[in-house]
Amino acid sequence: MKPTVAILGAGSMGETFALGLLRAGWEISDLSITDRRKERIREVEFLTGVTTTSDAAQAVAGKRVILVAVKPKDVPGLLDQIRDTLEADQVVVSIAAGVTIASYETELPGIPIVRSMPNTPAAIDEGMTAYCGGAHADAAAIEDAAVVLGAVGDTIELSEDLLDAVTAVSGTGPAYAFLLAEAMTEAAIREGLPHYAAERIVHQTLRGAGMLLAGSEKSAFRLRSDVTSPGGTTAAAMYALEEGGFRTLIEDAIQAASRRSRELGRRAAGDTDG
Ligand SMILES: NC(=O)c1ccc[n+]([C@@H]2O[C@H](COP(=O)([O-])OP(=O)(O)OC[C@H]3O[C@@H](n4cnc5c(N)ncnc54)[C@H](OP(=O)(O)O)[C@@H]3O)[C@@H](O)[C@H]2O)c1
Repeated sequence: MKPTVAILGAGSMGETFALGLLRAGWEISDLSITDRRKERIREVEFLTGVTTTSDAAQAVAGKRVILVAVKPKDVPGLLDQIRDTLEADQVVVSIAAGVTIASYETELPGIPIVRSMPNTPAAIDEGMTAYCGGAHADAAAIEDAAVVLGAVGDTIELSEDLLDAVTAVSGTGPAYAFLLAEAMTEAAIREGLPHYAAERIVHQTLRGAGMLLAGSEKSAFRLRSDVTSPGGTTAAAMYALEEGGFRTLIEDAIQAASRRSRELGRRAAGDTDG
């Protein structure tokens, strides 16, 4: 059974979810969308066929899952608009980075909350979303949230204290892969490959490696060892990466993103110390 869904905030993630839910079999009439910009409302209506309004309270009325897809700083203002309309048989599913369940529960007393962190490959149904239910979210509410989040990829339930780390790993993660693709493409061009060939070769290599990793029983370490012969080309490349501090850089990047997620959450909760 597909729960009805209101999508609040029709930016890139809101659009991704709207289109993903429609691809997964939700009917246009099962969905509503809100945004605050008139031209965006027209665009999203054209793109999805779903009724889109600037009135968040109207979008929320009668929907089971309320997907909060605005920037963390805009969450408090949005909750002011829907507080009086929400009922305890609805479930608010937040995708806003860093915004805690406690801050939602303070703003929306008694309303079931599920906090989640998806990522952009959701646009091709290859997303990774971690989620966690709050104090008022019973098994049915969490199940409905998981069904909606799972429409665009894989899902995993985790405790809330891990969601800033998830934001840093999978929420931000596609950007790490895109940066690697950029760097590999530039290096390939410097080695003499024409631009069109460099891009095609790099993209397919990353796609193939990702699919091999996701589909294999072997760990990343084992797959890497399998292609690294002593004294070979991969060994030379791995040595250069390790010497240059590749692992430390990745760790620093993930720590920085995790810290930023916590800061954004504090800011959204109105803590000016953050
Ligand atoms: N993008 C990602 O990779 C990613 C991944 C995981 C999670 N997230 C989370 O997803 C959320 C949305 O991100 P996004 O990249 O989709 O942002 P976005 O493109 O800026 O979309 C947010 C949309 O919501 C609108 N909005 C803001 N306040 C509103 C209100 N009160 N009522 C109606 N509409 C309102 C914004 O309008 P304006 O243009 O006027 O501001 C904008 O169109 C963020 O909280 C982010 O942390 C993003």
